[in-house]
Parts: sequence; C-alpha cells; structure tokens
Amino acid sequence: MPEATIPAEFEVYRFDPAKDRAPRYQRYSLDLAPHTPVLSALLRIRAEQDPTLTLRYSCRSAICGSCAMQVNSKSRLACETQIGPEMERHGTIVVEPMRNQPVLRDLVVDQAPFWQQYEGIEPHLILDPQHPMPEGRATSMTPAQVERFKETPRCIACAACYSACPAVSADPGFPGPMALAKLYRFVVDPRDTAARARLVRIQPNGLWLCLRCHLCTEACPKDVRPSERIRDLKELAIAEQGGTENGSRHAVGFKENIRDRGLLSEMKIVRQTSGVLGLASQAGQGIRIWRKKPEILKRPPPIEGLDELEKIYEALDTPPKEGS
Ligand code: FES
Repeated sequence: MPEATIPAEFEVYRFDPAKDRAPRYQRYSLDLAPHTPVLSALLRIRAEQDPTLTLRYSCRSAICGSCAMQVNSKSRLACETQIGPEMERHGTIVVEPMRNQPVLRDLVVDQAPFWQQYEGIEPHLILDPQHPMPEGRATSMTPAQVERFKETPRCIACAACYSACPAVSADPGFPGPMALAKLYRFVVDPRDTAARARLVRIQPNGLWLCLRCHLCTEACPKDVRPSERIRDLKELAIAEQGGTENGSRHAVGFKENIRDRGLLSEMKIVRQTSGVLGLASQAGQGIRIWRKKPEILKRPPPIEGLDELEKIYEALDTPPKEGS
C-alpha cells in the first residue's frame, strides 16, 4: 500500500547578497509523508523545482550538525525535524537561515563568529608546562569527576544554541552558549591547571551577559543543556572570586536580600549590584517608579515563615557529600 501523504507548504528564505537588495520568501508545495524530514523536503525542492536553492548538510543523521536552520522560528536540525508535526502546529513550514551569523546565501550562514568565540575560550586542556602530570595527580579521572561534564561531549557544534541566543543578538561579543558550555568542561576538569584564570577572564566580557532565558537549552538537539552549564560556571565564578562584577554582585545580593526578609528590596538590590554611584546614576528612573508605586522603594516587612526559608538556605549552603 502506498504511504499516506499530506500537502506541505514551504516558505523558504532566499537571499543572495551579491545580487539581491533584500531577502524574500519563496513558496513551494509538495505532497510528503508526515515523517519526512525538512531536509529531505528541501533536497526534493532543489532536485525537482529549484536547483538554485542553497543549503548545507552532510550526514542526514543528526550527527554532523551542518543542517541547523530556523524551522518555524526555532533553531533545529533540518534532518531530524519532521514535516508532519510542523504542518499540524503551524499550517506551513517557514525555513530560514540561523540567526546571529551573516547569510552567505539562502540557508547557508558564515559560521566564523561562532567558531571565533569557541577558539577564544581555549578549548583544550592547559597542563602545567613544568610538570605535565605532577606526582600524585591521577592521569585518569574518577567516574565522579567525569560525571561533572558528561553532557558537554555530546555537543555536535551545530550552533543551534548560538542562533537561539538573545544575548548574542544584543552583544556579538558574548561568547555564546556552546563556547561557555565547553569552557565549563575545562574548568571542572581536574587535569586543567588554568581553571581560575579561565573563570577570571570570562567574567567581565561574557559570563554575566547570559539572560537565563534557557532558549539555548530548548534549541540544543543533543541535550547538552548549555544554560545549566552557564549557571554552573556562574556558581564556580562566585565561589572563586565572590561578587566582583555587576552580574555576580547582583546574584550574591539577591540571595542575601531574599534571605533577610523573604522579599526583594528594590533599593537595596540596586545598591548591592551597582554600588552607591550606580544607585545615584539611576535616581531619575527611581523617582519615576516612586511616583507610580511609592511602596516599591520601602524596605519590605519580613514574610511569615522566614524560619522555613532559612532552612532552605541552610540546605543549599550544605556541600553535597562526596559521591552523592
Ligand atoms: S545533516 Fe548532519 S546533522 Fe543534519
């Protein structure tokens, strides 16, 4: 029996910077089995309808990472995204190139910014040059040590996380989720001798620009969960240096602030984050807020059950037992 098909409508981003003034969207229609991957559909469009359509792919098995693109506004691997659910949810399949990287043509982007950020974190072990493996340091790691970064080797560098990241869009200097997840892998590797230097270097120009939106984790096809690795890096940075940046001061201040009364004191958190001068620089905004909502600038009264909150803090501050 022939396989059942559904009508699938595609709107595909087309742009050749050498010839076109602006991008356009081209419509294509095909009858396809619902489980057909978007990549297979695009290849059929190219073979049967438009040989000029330009895209990048290789393995067609969700291994090489080269077919990452925007499918209905989500960063996805085209070779593992099936058309059936997309048609069901959106009624059409809009295919666009990845974000945060310049378009070379149609669905192909220049990945240079992504790889430059990766190179910037020095993605290799830095050993002690005098004593590559000092006596007493194990040459292999324990299972518990490997467990700490077990997710990051799954990364296939598809850049879906980089494309999804609003912090990269806002500041191209932000290293991006993949570079930071890889950085975490070296920071917690007991053989690496540069963990502290890596943490100190990444803080002012990168780490604290993460918005904690978790879009990178949603986009990652390999469950590396970059946003969780960035959170881990932030915790390590605070443990190493305390509050030295606006971002780390905000995190430390927020924790203290809530512990004090169970509610955030807006005035106090601004002072804790930016200092007295920072507070003064935001006086105009403070006055505008105060006019609309005067209570926001008052220190909140303690909440009921503050002792229960304290127990949570104590549990959080207790280091986990070895091996747990
Ligand atoms: S073509 Fe290799 S991951 Fe999709």
